Amino acid sequence: MILDKGPWNEYIDETEESHRKIYGTDMFDLAKQYGTPLFVLFEDIIVKNYEKYRHALEKEYKDHLICYAVKANTSYCVLNFLSKLGSGADVASEYELQLALNAGIPTENIRANGNCKNESYLEECIKKGILINVDPEEELTIINEIALRLGIAAKINIRFAGFPVKHITSRAITTSSDWSKFGIDIKRANSVFRKVLDMDMLIPNGLMVHLGSQITDISTYYTVLEILIDLSRDAQQIGFEINEIDIGGGLGIPYFESEDWNSIKKKIKNTRKENYTWADEFIGYEFNAESNDLEWIGEELSSAYAPDTFIRKLFNEKYSANKTFKEKLEEIGTPRFVIEPGRSIIGNAGVTIAKIGHVSNTPRGENIVHVDAGVNSHTFGTAVPEQLHRIEIANNIEEDEHFETFVAGNLCFTGDLLCKIKNKLIRKPRRGDYLLFYDTGAYSDFFASNANSFPRPPKVMVAKDGTHRLLVRREDFSEVFQREVGLGIPRT
Ligand SMILES: Cc1ncc(COP(=O)(O)O)c(C=O)c1O
Repeated sequence: MILDKGPWNEYIDETEESHRKIYGTDMFDLAKQYGTPLFVLFEDIIVKNYEKYRHALEKEYKDHLICYAVKANTSYCVLNFLSKLGSGADVASEYELQLALNAGIPTENIRANGNCKNESYLEECIKKGILINVDPEEELTIINEIALRLGIAAKINIRFAGFPVKHITSRAITTSSDWSKFGIDIKRANSVFRKVLDMDMLIPNGLMVHLGSQITDISTYYTVLEILIDLSRDAQQIGFEINEIDIGGGLGIPYFESEDWNSIKKKIKNTRKENYTWADEFIGYEFNAESNDLEWIGEELSSAYAPDTFIRKLFNEKYSANKTFKEKLEEIGTPRFVIEPGRSIIGNAGVTIAKIGHVSNTPRGENIVHVDAGVNSHTFGTAVPEQLHRIEIANNIEEDEHFETFVAGNLCFTGDLLCKIKNKLIRKPRRGDYLLFYDTGAYSDFFASNANSFPRPPKVMVAKDGTHRLLVRREDFSEVFQREVGLGIPRT
């Protein structure tokens, strides 16, 4: 089975030389021009995703704010571009905040997140009147003290966790359950509301939750939002104002069509028979003693909801007492609805191109393609199945004898595998061919580093008409070592 390219089918084509073309741009030529590894973003897909959120929200709920999660793809140009479309920003550090401000995002459209915000980050937020999502509870005192020192009151939302959710995505990116380093336990809500009201320099504004990332089951949102509405009522009863409900980000994207994804999961489960995963690992599964079987606990890589269908369902589905989310929001005074999408804006708007150095075999005889990119520029270990993307050869794409292979990066450790689950390519690749990884727009360079002293890759943006421009350059030698105090004199 060669994997269906799903939504990409709409944008992809083939050149006369049998190269992969996306939005009229030859990926082979692009790789030659900018070098590899190379991140490529497609402007039109970003616009479409953002507009899907915006149109659906215009229709469903007037008072809303979309805050692009800067961490998903941190680039000034991306932010500046989204800012022109009217987007706000979710930031998680003082540098993300500075970038958002430089990119022209108005202060009132920024939400400051983070579970360990430093003093200068908090100080900047307070001075500029930026809303802080408080996390954890101890931060209340710290913010109050800084605000007191500055003589400026701080506007805050309370971020909650400890919701009754389980296996909603992989563990590493679940941020709202009992096992979460983020958020304040919902059981502490009432005493936290009182604490806020007792502090002179805190202005209560609303409640916030971020469920996690790559969430594909919308009912999880219903469960959590229902509780958030109940907490809002409790808050209002004691005078804690609810001007805003911020539901964070989290909406998943379809890395695969559902049929392909189900078949991949089945093969992982049977890996000992099928030699399907690296070291026969049951990636994404855990043994469940009760059922005496393997249980899927990873994230789902197939999603049925685009941003507009997600918003439509979120607002129109019946919650408890046969009421919609919109009706429930009206009952608590029609607070502003804030959403902080990252992956669902930019994840399916990017591809990564890497060059093949070698095709070899593991000592056990499995095929392995070696490319010039490491996991540090490919969603490093956040959640293992997430390293699984649709992959294809970008040149000479005519079909031949299929070739099943793992994909290894160029870093000095065995965990550096860009694909721990076998991929089927349309032919045997050769040294010098290019591999194309789809849907890598979000979090690919989140862990980008100079591991093994490799430079961090450039980013290119392709416009709807096929023209392209460089957003981020590749580092050179002096940039890779720019923090060295004495770099030495080059020998002649
Ligand atoms: C507070 C917060 N908001 C929004 C997001 C964006 O999530 P996603 O990219 O899954 O939409 C994140 C990501 O981790 C987050 O931590």
